[in-house]
Amino acid sequence: MELTRTADLWWKTAIVYCLDVETFFDSNGDGHGDFRGLAQKIDYLDRLGVTCVWLMPFYPSPDRDDGYDITDFYNVDPRLGTLGDFVEFLRTARDRGIRVIADLVVNHTSDQHPWFQSAREGPDSPYHDWYVWQDKPPAGAEKGIVFPDKETSLWTYDRKAKQYYLHRFYKHQPDLDVANPAVRDEIARVMGFWLELGLSGFRVDGVPFLLDTAGSDAAKDLPDPHEYLADLRAFLGRRRGDAVMLGEVNLPYKETMKFFGDGGGVADELTMCFDFIGMQKMYLSLARGDAGPLASALRKRPLPPRDGHWATFVRNHDELTLDKLTESERQEVFDAFGPDKDMQLYGRGLRRRLPSMVDGDERRVRMVYSLLYSLPGCPVLFYGEEIGMAEDLRAEGRLAVRTPMQWSPGRNGGFSTADPSELPGPIPEGRFGPEHVSVSAQEGDQDSLHSWIRLLIDRYRESPELAWGRYEVLDTGEPSVLAHRCDIDGTVVVLHNLADRAVSPEITLDDVDDSHLLVDLLHSGELPVSEKGVATVNLEPYGCRWLRVTDR
Ligand code: NOJ
Repeated sequence: MELTRTADLWWKTAIVYCLDVETFFDSNGDGHGDFRGLAQKIDYLDRLGVTCVWLMPFYPSPDRDDGYDITDFYNVDPRLGTLGDFVEFLRTARDRGIRVIADLVVNHTSDQHPWFQSAREGPDSPYHDWYVWQDKPPAGAEKGIVFPDKETSLWTYDRKAKQYYLHRFYKHQPDLDVANPAVRDEIARVMGFWLELGLSGFRVDGVPFLLDTAGSDAAKDLPDPHEYLADLRAFLGRRRGDAVMLGEVNLPYKETMKFFGDGGGVADELTMCFDFIGMQKMYLSLARGDAGPLASALRKRPLPPRDGHWATFVRNHDELTLDKLTESERQEVFDAFGPDKDMQLYGRGLRRRLPSMVDGDERRVRMVYSLLYSLPGCPVLFYGEEIGMAEDLRAEGRLAVRTPMQWSPGRNGGFSTADPSELPGPIPEGRFGPEHVSVSAQEGDQDSLHSWIRLLIDRYRESPELAWGRYEVLDTGEPSVLAHRCDIDGTVVVLHNLADRAVSPEITLDDVDDSHLLVDLLHSGELPVSEKGVATVNLEPYGCRWLRVTDR
């Protein structure tokens, strides 16, 4: 590998860790996690092998959508600290070689944002045109509602403005009008502000909604929305050459590809897109104990243009969406992993984390994270996954999977010394609560899930084939096994058994013969290969192997 490429395209080998400052660690005992607390935990993240922290929204907010409803894009919510604390945290992270990206939520503001409050005054307000207004909601206003449990239309009447405003999400989140050049300028200013303080880029919220200006009268004068996204990326690059935009685009592959852009074969819009399709097919495969759906998604998944990359994940902070499966496929996943109505959300997803979905079967949990770190793409971990935290269904909606980080057994799971009633969410009880699942119990234990994840991260970082290589899904003749190989200046072959029975699939590696061996990267040992490049790999129930081709 060329060193300059590996160093510059840092996102290709990044280990991303998503967290919410509010639920990570409370340094002053007021019940809320804060930037000072997070700074104290940087060494923990460093030891785990994290190279990039993704901060969920930390801006001032009435907190009606867990911070995704912002009232000031240029500040830190006082519950979480000050801008000074933010910069100290950033500096500490940089000292450990950890980059930081943050949520950029500019599709909408909170309805409490001073811009919207002014906009409501009517057309004389300088901010009126920053939002999307109409005298009457257009036809189809009830189509494409994101939160059907709370909303019935994309348009809500504002008594003061005497007009309807567009909101893709909750009615307390009016959409900004990116067709308006003043709004575009302001979005760039927001990005420039945080880049100047040291961010390495953004996770861009709801990208297709942000670009959709269909409700706006100004839209007809607009260039292609993708030109706008390319403009934004170019601006980002001018301000900070190595900064990235990691986009939330939950669309079929073909449509998602457009969001990478294609500036002469180079990704000139989003640097990375989450692989929502692969994630959903993975759960279908897990539910069936059949690698087929995942294998076929990986075979169909297009290659991003140069320098672009997919971002892979097992769990994010939202409902585990299954919206791109067919109704019967979704039902299969519901039946396997979340049969109770209370575990499901919006009719399309689950509000559970993986360990409880598989009834605490750690073999399965370990195998899934082995998939995460070996499938091609930038692996993104959601806080607490490394210790096997589960959800707490007592919390409302998606908050079930956003409970405080479990640092140790005992009061509040070591997250805060405050009275439990002051915490941002409940602390799970029972088998997945901090008495059984915590950092302190697992960090020093070689056999823990935490140590397993650390091993996977280490091996991933040592295996450029996985991050940089061409990949190919291999046929094994064994339906429960996903086998793939990754090649670049070397070859790594990876196998996963999605079923609860031992299997011994055969793989054939065309360019390999009996002068080679397959060295096991996760467990010790090696496997022979025949003259014709055939190897038999024993896999335990839910077992996995990472094998590097080496000269005998
Ligand atoms: C997408 C975020 O992931 C989600 O949590 C949020 O509710 C919506 N955008 C609205 O901001």
